[in-house]
Amino acid sequence: MDKLWGGRFKKEISSIMLDFVASIGFDKKLVKYDIQGSIAHAKMLKKCQIIAEDEANKIINGLSNILEEINSGNLTVDDQSEDVHTWVESQLMAKIGNVAGKLHTARSRNDQITLDERLYLKEEINIIQQKLKDLMEILLMVSKKYLGIIMPGYTHLQHAQPILFSHHLLAYFFKFNRDLERLQDLFKRVDVLPLGSAALGGTSYPIDRQFVAIELNFSKVSPNSIDAVSDRDFIIEFLSDAAMIMLHLSCLSEEIILWSSNEFDFIELDDSFCTGSSIMPQKKNPDAAELIRGKTGRVYGHLMALLNVMKALPLTYNHDMQEDKEPMFDTVEVIKKSLTVMTGMISTVHIKQENMTDSLKGDFSNTTELADYLVKKGIAFREAHRIVGEIVLYCIDKKKNIEHLNLEEFKNFHSTFQDDVLSILSPADVVNSKNSYGGTSIEKVKESIKEAEKTLEYI
Ligand code: ARG
Repeated sequence: MDKLWGGRFKKEISSIMLDFVASIGFDKKLVKYDIQGSIAHAKMLKKCQIIAEDEANKIINGLSNILEEINSGNLTVDDQSEDVHTWVESQLMAKIGNVAGKLHTARSRNDQITLDERLYLKEEINIIQQKLKDLMEILLMVSKKYLGIIMPGYTHLQHAQPILFSHHLLAYFFKFNRDLERLQDLFKRVDVLPLGSAALGGTSYPIDRQFVAIELNFSKVSPNSIDAVSDRDFIIEFLSDAAMIMLHLSCLSEEIILWSSNEFDFIELDDSFCTGSSIMPQKKNPDAAELIRGKTGRVYGHLMALLNVMKALPLTYNHDMQEDKEPMFDTVEVIKKSLTVMTGMISTVHIKQENMTDSLKGDFSNTTELADYLVKKGIAFREAHRIVGEIVLYCIDKKKNIEHLNLEEFKNFHSTFQDDVLSILSPADVVNSKNSYGGTSIEKVKESIKEAEKTLEYI
């Protein structure tokens, strides 16, 4: 196995140890970024006359060739090296000979690995943001298409008040928008160049870190070499933001699962996003939603894992930190796939509008409105609440729908009731009365759609 060290060792490393310490099995994912970083570093070494121009050119060309070969599929990273940095250097050595050894001047694997991770994460954050936007666009599209459909809104999973289906969907739009903002904010902290911190204390060579930052498109240069090589906050923060995205996806999945059950029957998922049962021929299962809900657990686990890896490390680099990569890579893959699948599932879903609205019949979800009616006539809310509670009890006893009571029946409970009470209790009346900013009336949901459209334009 290739090693970047060995001079001070008398004995060969045990194969068990090499296998244990090696990270090539997973950090090969960073190869592209490792080479990009090395090219920028070599350019800087040349510019600052730390290595000779012709030597630097050999290194830069060699690295560029390796990158091309990888991109065209002619070269793949094997598992014969300790890590991705060692692999790249050994490839370079094979291509251009011993001059390859000059590349590692004024840097260490400690600043190199966190550079690779930052380059990787910057790219992946952009991809995830785009996927979030795609999902938000679909949520908005479906909200616009079905504007006007009324469904029960829930608290405690019990019918609470009628709401617009679009209002409910837009709630997720705004949740995902916060996720997007969190990633935008995180990006600022990922977008910092650590290279040039070397092992931990900086370097005695006259390097130009600003030059490298510009080459690699970083907005900032890290101000403290000790912090730079020991910092994994940006990965923990990413995992935390990812956990929140999964939380939102998982809640939406849960609702999709409920809504497509026989009991709710509010939606039917498209065949293309379901699977069947090997034994029960009638089954069509909401697997995509279940898997998103299930995978949420593992993303939470990754966040906990890295918090624990980092929690008691003395400054600066410790090999424990190698454990940061698998949770990060897995989280990126899970998030990207889950967002894509959710977008596909929502864009093909069949909405059973009548079932949604029919489920409101006789469910007493209009009683808050009835209490408010009394309050508007001068009765204290507490008193109104009690009166309406008695009306509910009466309806349950008599097996009646509250919206079917006549004025006389209402008057039996309080003389304040007038015939205008008969025109406030339909689901549409109740929905449209909720006209406060952010509320569920058609007017306010239309405004909310406009706001969502504007949000999408600006992000
Ligand atoms: N494979 C290591 C990691 O992922 C790279 C840094 C190694 N540095 C060291 N001093 N051994 O963390």
